[in-house]
Amino acid sequence: MCGIKSQQVVLAAVAAAAGMVLCSCSPMQSRTAADQATRQLDIKVKPFGETSDGQQVRLYTLRNVNGLSAEIMTYGAIVVTLKTPDRKGKMDDIVLGYDNLADYVKNSPYFGAIVGRYGNRIGQGKFTLDGVEYKLAVNNGENHLHGGLKGFDKVVWSDEPVWKANAVGVKLSYVSKDGEEGYPGNLNATVTYLLTNANELRIEYQATTDKATPVNLTHHGYFNLTGAQRDILDHALALNADKFTPVDKGLIPTGELVAVKGTPMDFTRPTPIGARIGNEFEQLKFGGGYDHNWVLNKGGRGMITAARLYEPTTGRLMEVRTTEPGIQFYSGNFLDGTITGKGVVVYKHRWGLCLETQHYPDSPNKPNFPSTILRPGEKYETTTIYRFSTK
Ligand code: BGC
Repeated sequence: MCGIKSQQVVLAAVAAAAGMVLCSCSPMQSRTAADQATRQLDIKVKPFGETSDGQQVRLYTLRNVNGLSAEIMTYGAIVVTLKTPDRKGKMDDIVLGYDNLADYVKNSPYFGAIVGRYGNRIGQGKFTLDGVEYKLAVNNGENHLHGGLKGFDKVVWSDEPVWKANAVGVKLSYVSKDGEEGYPGNLNATVTYLLTNANELRIEYQATTDKATPVNLTHHGYFNLTGAQRDILDHALALNADKFTPVDKGLIPTGELVAVKGTPMDFTRPTPIGARIGNEFEQLKFGGGYDHNWVLNKGGRGMITAARLYEPTTGRLMEVRTTEPGIQFYSGNFLDGTITGKGVVVYKHRWGLCLETQHYPDSPNKPNFPSTILRPGEKYETTTIYRFSTK
């Protein structure tokens, strides 16, 4: 982290210049010239406690020229806070989480974390690769969920600040050892969070391995665009997906890709999440609400808009863009009022929702799903952007 100060001075000038340009076309035009002059890209780093085995955890505060901010800690690569303006310019924290490290360590349903080595479930915690059967840690009934007992959400990542002309960020790295949670190969993973002056939280994932292994990294933020004032049932969601992957009772995909048309899974047009969540529909019963992977309509490769989430009272709009083929929409069904989060807010049923860009769950056991296998010499590279605006 040395050299942050000197970099700050040099890059602040670049950033301020970039910021002035962006500010002039920003929707938040009521700001005075004096305001604009004082707003610049900024990174602050401070200690955020230590784990029980004595590892120091740091908290990065990223700020862009429009005053949006994100706090990200090195434990679990967790986004602790994310503040964005409502349509009147009022900043609120739009993600669920805790005020301190101890609560994250004690009991967190993956609040704001990077999950890995494999996001979501692998049926019965096993798969066969190149003729060898691998047994993974089982932590969800008979299945493997979000990387196992100690997934990437529960480790301390190495960190370095990232300064760009139009963004600030933190690059987080973690080496997952051969055999960790049952996976083959030493996996070098890096996740770079960037807060851009276009009001995006951009997440760039990279990994390499020395043995063939499944990899499926995602971000497990629980969003509530009201600023966690009430549940998420009035948020309107649109998903760019004509199909989803139905699951069995244990939430393992059956392997089929089924059309959403004519079902409560159809979010091809913006629809309030609560409108059909209680419908008599077997898939909703299995999930206790929405907890499924949608198959994104991808014309070709590259980045597409996967989802749009709109909250009518605050006017906040979040667009999700990704290079991934799927998105898990989880409507916070397991939140039940037993967790008290930041600012002593009780997180009741469906107080937050996740939009996790990913490959489909259980792909290592589903030959017809896009492959999640990374081999030596290959580079795993994916990008997801959460973009914030109002209307
Ligand atoms: C899964 C849920 C799970 C939740 C963990 C989601 O990604 O799809 O089934 O309960 O993460 O809190």
